Parts: sequence; structure tokens; C-alpha cells
Amino acid sequence: MPDALARAAAAARRRAYAPYSRFLVGAALRAEDGSVHVGCNVENAAYPQGTCAEAGAIAAMVAAGQRRIAEAVIAGGDAPCPPCGGCRQKLREFAGPDLEIRMVDADGRPLLVRTLGELLPDSFGPELLA
Ligand code: THU
Repeated sequence: MPDALARAAAAARRRAYAPYSRFLVGAALRAEDGSVHVGCNVENAAYPQGTCAEAGAIAAMVAAGQRRIAEAVIAGGDAPCPPCGGCRQKLREFAGPDLEIRMVDADGRPLLVRTLGELLPDSFGPELLA
């Protein structure tokens, strides 16, 4: 039985709006206060206006008043869905290189784990502007 965060990501995936790619993605973040925030990809007839699941989850977390990601799960299909390049940078704004990003299938079963540092080495983060 997948853990609660993996199940939240899988549930968000089922609500994805992806009529063009038909590639459903869900993301679930646990913030440092323990709260859970989810997102799904939301595509658009004007293709570049579509948004990724991770971006939606980050926006929900920030709107809820949280600014630090403690855990991240991304739910895709049978193969691991790694965050796209832009989402790696978006995650980096609210997490350091040690953040574990767990990729799971449509039912929340584990497929792959990578740290943010592995996915985005030598990253440019907010500390560099402090
Ligand atoms: N997608 C995500 O939501 N997250 C990712 O990390 C990879 C890609 C979405 C965007 C688009 O709606 C669909 O998957 C196909 O690229």
C-alpha cells in the first residue's frame, strides 16, 4: 500500500487535464510543517500555456503559506516521470539539493528516487542572490 503522499500524487494525477498529450501527471509536496499540497498538469488549446503538475503543487503550497518542500512525489505512468527542466528549477527555489524526489506509477507504486541535486547539479538557487 503506497504511503499517503504517493497516494495524494496518484489522486491528483487522476484529475489532470491533458486532452492534447494524454500524458497525465500528478505531484504531491509535503511542506516542512507537514501539510500536503497537490497539483496536476493543466493543458491548454494554446499549447505553451499549459502548466506542469509540479508547478501547480508549488503554487498551492506557497498560496497556503508554506515555503519549504520536505518531500516530493511525482506520479506518472508505467515509466518514471522525472520533472522537466523548468520544474527542477522551480523546485529548487523551495528546496535544497538533498530533497528526495520520488517517482511513482499511476497507483502510487515506487519506480525511481533521485535527489534534486542529482537532477539539477550545480544549481542556481535563491541563496546566490542573498
Ligand atoms: N508534465 C508535467 O506535468 N510534469 C513533468 O515534469 C513533465 C511533463 C506534463 C506537461 C504536459 O502536460 C505533459 O506532461 C506532456 O509533456
